[in-house]
Amino acid sequence: MTAPTWSLRRLHTIDDAQIDGLADVLIDCVEGGASVSFMLPLSRGRAIAFWRRVAQGVAAGERALLVADDADGLCGTVQLILDQPENQPHRADLAKMLVHRRARRQGLGAALMRAAEATARECGKTLLVLDAVTGGDAARLYESLGWERVGSIPGYALMPEGGLCSTTVYYRNLV
Ligand SMILES: CC(C)(COP(=O)(O)OP(=O)(O)OC[C@H]1O[C@@H](n2cnc3c(N)ncnc32)[C@H](O)[C@@H]1OP(=O)(O)O)[C@@H](O)C(=O)NCCC(=O)NCCS
Repeated sequence: MTAPTWSLRRLHTIDDAQIDGLADVLIDCVEGGASVSFMLPLSRGRAIAFWRRVAQGVAAGERALLVADDADGLCGTVQLILDQPENQPHRADLAKMLVHRRARRQGLGAALMRAAEATARECGKTLLVLDAVTGGDAARLYESLGWERVGSIPGYALMPEGGLCSTTVYYRNLV
């Protein structure tokens, strides 16, 4: 088995170079057709503004941010939204799982998911929730990792070029 060509870490503060790298990954994913909140065209300014808001949440302890780097820089990321209502302190949402197209199909997505689950446990979380485009690459990955499918909501979101898609909700019990 070949060793991974990337390394994973959790960022507690995010500098401008990392914001730039995160923006590159987000833009690459949206240009590749991923339905991850943004419509095309996604300007660099909008992508950077998004990551600056994420950086504020990370600094405030409301989010955990994991990133992967390869020889060309930042190539993948995932977040846990830790800040939840007071009656759901044990829960986090998993969000913005993004792997740059250059780094896909090498196991990085699975590694990011496992790292996110480990981080969630470290943060005292025992239940994770996420949603994904029904039947897409991400949904297949989550199911292969043992996430439980709750159900699908037709017409939940738009694809980046337009056109509604169905979203499937998943959960993972970490107990
Ligand atoms: C979904 C996503 C994160 C997966 O990332 P990834 O790094 O490609 O994930 P993995 O490599 O772990 O697994 C993907 C596939 O590669 C396969 N694979 C893993 N390692 C491999 C290897 N060394 N050689 C060949 N195939 C491999 C996996 O079995 C899996 O196969 P499948 O598609 O048939 O199920 C990525 O496609 C992505 O960023 N998409 C756009 C953004 C998005 O939609 N995010 C999800 C929001 S909910």
